[in-house]
Amino acid sequence: MARRKKIYEGKAKILYEGPEPGTIVQYFKDDATAFNAEKRDVIEGKGVLNNRLSEYFMTGLGSIGVPTHFLRRLNMREQLVRACEIIPLEVIVRNYAAGTMSKRLGIEEGTQLPRPVVEYCYKDDSLGDPLVTEEHIAAFNWATQQDMDDILSLALRVNDFLSGVMYGVGIKLVDFKIEIGRVYDGDFQRLVVADEISPDSCRLWDIETGQKLDKDVFRRDLGSLTDAYTEVAKRLGVMPKGATAMAKPTLIN
Ligand code: CDP
Repeated sequence: MARRKKIYEGKAKILYEGPEPGTIVQYFKDDATAFNAEKRDVIEGKGVLNNRLSEYFMTGLGSIGVPTHFLRRLNMREQLVRACEIIPLEVIVRNYAAGTMSKRLGIEEGTQLPRPVVEYCYKDDSLGDPLVTEEHIAAFNWATQQDMDDILSLALRVNDFLSGVMYGVGIKLVDFKIEIGRVYDGDFQRLVVADEISPDSCRLWDIETGQKLDKDVFRRDLGSLTDAYTEVAKRLGVMPKGATAMAKPTLIN
């Protein structure tokens, strides 16, 4: 059997050529990185959890009419997505101050913001994904004004959807990052939510206890990352209660 073609390998995912033109297989690795890959580890089961969680969020977004690149999950670690041209921006939406916003502006982590704040970072690891303004985006032609209007409206819809879903299971959506892709339908282009939506790219705090259920557990050495992601998956009903991400084979007598 011919080996399938690897298109790209990133920090947490590998992209392979899909079975039909215009499709890509997205493989979720167990690798965790933080601080621009200065801190790294392999967290058993993370890829399986993120594959399921991203499927859950992308499918939910699709069902309320927010276009995404997601087509279907293929297996434990892979999903089929539409090939798209990724706009080189990390679109961050914040509901509460945390992380770099708290550092940059001296706002205590957890402070509720007066309204959701959308930020753009230029996707370039060698530069550490610097914060940019719409002036940079327009001047360097990373996206048009029409794209930016569409990106803002997509980001806010994703925020409302994710905030509501999380609130329903007792979790506060502090912030998250999405990436946006262009897909072409004949002569027309449209924008879709691409990449992944998972606890790797969100800050999720338990509403009651404030416990962190996201990648900060790894960044800040707060315990088991798998346990935190499993908790999110269980609350959302994505994983049956009692199941673990890496179900071990059971001996049958
Ligand atoms: O995460 P960090 O403190 O470095 O940066 P941030 O700007 O506070 O991150 C805001 C949100 O975007 C967090 O939920 C991050 O997990 C997410 N993010 C991401 O997924 N990928 C990045 N390269 C940067 C931020």
